[in-house]
Amino acid sequence: MPRSFPPGFLWGTATSAYQVEGGNYGSDWWEWERAPGSGCAEPSLDACDHYHLYPSDIATIAALGFNTYRFSIEWSRVEPEPGEYSKAAIGHYRRMLETCHEQRVRPVVTFHHFTSPRWIAAAGGWEDPATPQRFAHYCGETARALAGLFDLAITINEPNMPPLLGYEDGIFPPGKREPEARLRVNSNFIEAHHLARAAIGSASGARVGMALAMVELEAVDGGDAQLERIQHVREDVFLEAAREDDFVGVNAYTRHQVGPEGIRWPDAEAERTALGWENRPAALAACVRRAHGMTGKPIIVTENGIGTNDDHRRIDYIRAALSDLHDCLAEGIDVGGYLYWSALDNFEWNHGYGPRFGLISVDRTTQERTVKPSGRWLGEVARRNLL
Ligand code: FCB
Repeated sequence: MPRSFPPGFLWGTATSAYQVEGGNYGSDWWEWERAPGSGCAEPSLDACDHYHLYPSDIATIAALGFNTYRFSIEWSRVEPEPGEYSKAAIGHYRRMLETCHEQRVRPVVTFHHFTSPRWIAAAGGWEDPATPQRFAHYCGETARALAGLFDLAITINEPNMPPLLGYEDGIFPPGKREPEARLRVNSNFIEAHHLARAAIGSASGARVGMALAMVELEAVDGGDAQLERIQHVREDVFLEAAREDDFVGVNAYTRHQVGPEGIRWPDAEAERTALGWENRPAALAACVRRAHGMTGKPIIVTENGIGTNDDHRRIDYIRAALSDLHDCLAEGIDVGGYLYWSALDNFEWNHGYGPRFGLISVDRTTQERTVKPSGRWLGEVARRNLL
């Protein structure tokens, strides 16, 4: 049965600056990739050289049929030293936004996607109580300089992940394993979101939200209390913090089962995807329903996708996720768009370049792009506004 989507539905694809631009040596991640014991697979180096190749990348995204492109601004480029703003870097992002408009693609701008300037890290990182204010200052300056060129903004991508991965699990910078620090950093990210929302909103008039990392959680073997505990610190405090936002961005990929001891990774028989995640397209609708139920806000799917080398599997995954998303719309949930992660095969953080989420592959020696069948297929769905 053909499923049509509402007029004006945002069909897009997403990237983040650090994962595609290349050469972001002012960022904390640049050091982290090289830090002994960080466990990073490889350095990002030139990434996809999107910093220079964005004109043809945005043209390709438009030509495929997408009407939206989500990308992020690299804080360390715009503010390389505290309070010192680079007009050249802001000019670069202005040209990216202008390119989007020339290509009739609506930009969704993210102000923080996992990376912070090295000077922030040196000053105490996200544990420092001054960091939220510093972040909001950068957001306000940048939004003012780019006002009129964007009307949808995300303050922070997955404000729930750097606290967990960087301060409790130790696999993101600064590599701490201190559950108490995670809680402090959670609060600082929430404060930063609120300050940034106000700064971006008043400087630009854009609609502002966060993009939250959500997982479909399922209690097994009596794991209900543990599930509640995990969900509270990982998602609910952030959903509560999003109640005054203009929309909630949902990033969702998979399901985790939770036993009394905590999260259980899928067993050997389960069908897994590149990061060891369960292949579970139904997770998207479960997370959309939950985000909407808890906030009552309009939802935008700001990330959904699958890491795989089998592009047919990618199409199957997206088709199933979109079919469920259409059910959410039929239930009356205001879902404004679907942004696939990711436009390009890119630098997948500590995993390096191995996992492939892209609709477009990238030859890392020549930087040559090749659109995958999934890119053409999803572009066609976008163009027709019909699954
Ligand atoms: C999300 C991140 C994104 C990418 C995907 C696979 O958590 O926002 O940068 O790593 O997962």
